[in-house]
Amino acid sequence: MKNYACIFDLDGVVVDTAKFHFLAWQKLANSLGFNFSEHQNESLKGISRKESLDIILNWGKIELSDTAKQYWLETKNKWYLENVLQMDKTAILPGAKDFIERVKSVGYKTALGSASKNATTILKIVGLDASFDVIVDGNKTTKSKPDPQVFTMCADALNIEYKNCVVFEDAEAGIEAALSAGMYAIGVGDKMVLKKAGFVVKDLSEMNLERLPFKK
Ligand code: BG6
Ligand code: MG
Repeated sequence: MKNYACIFDLDGVVVDTAKFHFLAWQKLANSLGFNFSEHQNESLKGISRKESLDIILNWGKIELSDTAKQYWLETKNKWYLENVLQMDKTAILPGAKDFIERVKSVGYKTALGSASKNATTILKIVGLDASFDVIVDGNKTTKSKPDPQVFTMCADALNIEYKNCVVFEDAEAGIEAALSAGMYAIGVGDKMVLKKAGFVVKDLSEMNLERLPFKK
């Protein structure tokens, strides 16, 4: 038995949903009379829905009552789900399914560590709901990335030491969360954004078992 684990973020690592979060948040900002850039959007990745709304309202210099915030949180999720519910298996990002299967085939554990409250819905839509030994999502956590909670909960549930876990992340906040848990972080996406990662791949099609920093 090899006591190692790979922990995968969902949005932007396993499934191509990061763009739908961006579109829905932009629609919300536009509805309130302002806009924000793709560069600003990088800092929303990995952040919970509620905290993302506060960050965006702050960019637009808009103050809202709790009732109005609740309305916009529900509206954003409705817009987001309109796109998500039209996805199928083709929304799985290149290499993700194969790599997860390869990791399992040699006895390493797998977990999904996501801030999203829609994680199980999305996994079912793309047919990956049985692919992970453990799933920790935004319905189970109380602290948002860059807090390490989501990843330490995965490792604890798998009974694997933090130093023997590798996290795959497309978000700066997620890389920081992994590092502060004492885990190894592999960036998925843009090298210029994910500077603190051990190394960065474009997508999981660039990954193989030899690149994992585990002792053979
Ligand atoms: C993260 C995304 O995975 O989940 C964030 O990177 C998103 O953009 C967060 O805000 C929460 O997702 P949801 O689906 O609960 O709104
Ligand atoms: Mg992500």
